[in-house]
Amino acid sequence: MSAEPLEIYLAEQDIGRSLREDVRSGLTARPKWLPPKWFYDARGSELFDEITRLPEYYPTRAERAVLAERAGEIAATTGAKTLIELGSGSSEKTRLLLDAFTRRGGLGTFVPLDVSVSALRQSTAQIAAAYPGLRVRGIVGDFTRQLDRLPTGGRRLVAFLGGTIGNLLPIERAEFLTAMRAALEVGDWLLLGTDLVKDPGVLVPAYDDAAGVTAEFNRNVLRVINRELGTDLDPAAFAHVAIWNPEQEWIEMRLRARRPIRTRVLDLDVEFAEGEELRTEISAKFRPAGIAAELAAAGFVTHDFWTDPDGLFGVTLARAD
Ligand code: SAH
Ligand code: AVI
Repeated sequence: MSAEPLEIYLAEQDIGRSLREDVRSGLTARPKWLPPKWFYDARGSELFDEITRLPEYYPTRAERAVLAERAGEIAATTGAKTLIELGSGSSEKTRLLLDAFTRRGGLGTFVPLDVSVSALRQSTAQIAAAYPGLRVRGIVGDFTRQLDRLPTGGRRLVAFLGGTIGNLLPIERAEFLTAMRAALEVGDWLLLGTDLVKDPGVLVPAYDDAAGVTAEFNRNVLRVINRELGTDLDPAAFAHVAIWNPEQEWIEMRLRARRPIRTRVLDLDVEFAEGEELRTEISAKFRPAGIAAELAAAGFVTHDFWTDPDGLFGVTLARAD
């Protein structure tokens, strides 16, 4: 089966409006900040894929190891008819699940959802070609806003991999999990990938690699804003910063102005003092008890929790209760 045309829940004008709102509130706040979803235009999605292959960036390899080991069990336990993937990107690791479901039989539909049209176009075409019996319905959407529009009917498994839940602030995370639970029926399943708390000596290089790919990914948000809003923020004028916040137990990525910057963004005069920072992402790291507690608070029961052999990354299989 070829992939169906992408279903657009988030039209270009909505994306434009939402970017303008975020830029307006983020660049007038103190400290300045932007939500990480704006990294992911075509170039940002490619840069992220490059990150996943870096020697320092362990999460993708660690999560893949868990899925390689457990995919059969996940398929058997859930018996899902529909696999929905949020923030699906290239859906590369998801193939391990699709392979297991194919061996078992019974999965009819795969529904990847992402804000990145380019990533989705590529992944849906590739998955449809590789799994000829599968219906592939790609959705352009925002998982913080549009969970109520997920396909219904039949046993569902929602996969949210990569540790992307850690890119939400704690309050956003709670709202996300509550909305996720509300979108599911009792007996549906959630497969959640979470990066785990560990030595900052391992964490920080994963977000500040020697080849500078993460730095380019970080600066890409400026290129997105320049293109979409016609601004002239010079990416080279900002240094990439990745720091571990031990109180919050998250990595923060920031862009630090190398010199004073004055520019016009929308109808705003935006100024950066030399050394001033713009927070572009948090990437929260989790402890097993905390994950189970957050899931329980939203109405999920943890059925399984697995890590890779080195204990770097956790994958939880939880049931809507
Ligand atoms: N799941 C993949 C990709 C992770 S990168 C993996 O594990 O490797 C994060 C992905 O989430 C990107 O593809 C990005 O475009 C998408 N994304 C980020 N914020 C989003 C949002 N609010 N709604 C939908 N997709 C989002
Ligand atoms: C998508 N997300 C889980 C990645 C992370 O590790 O927080 C994004 C990323 N940022 C820098 N490197 C990768």
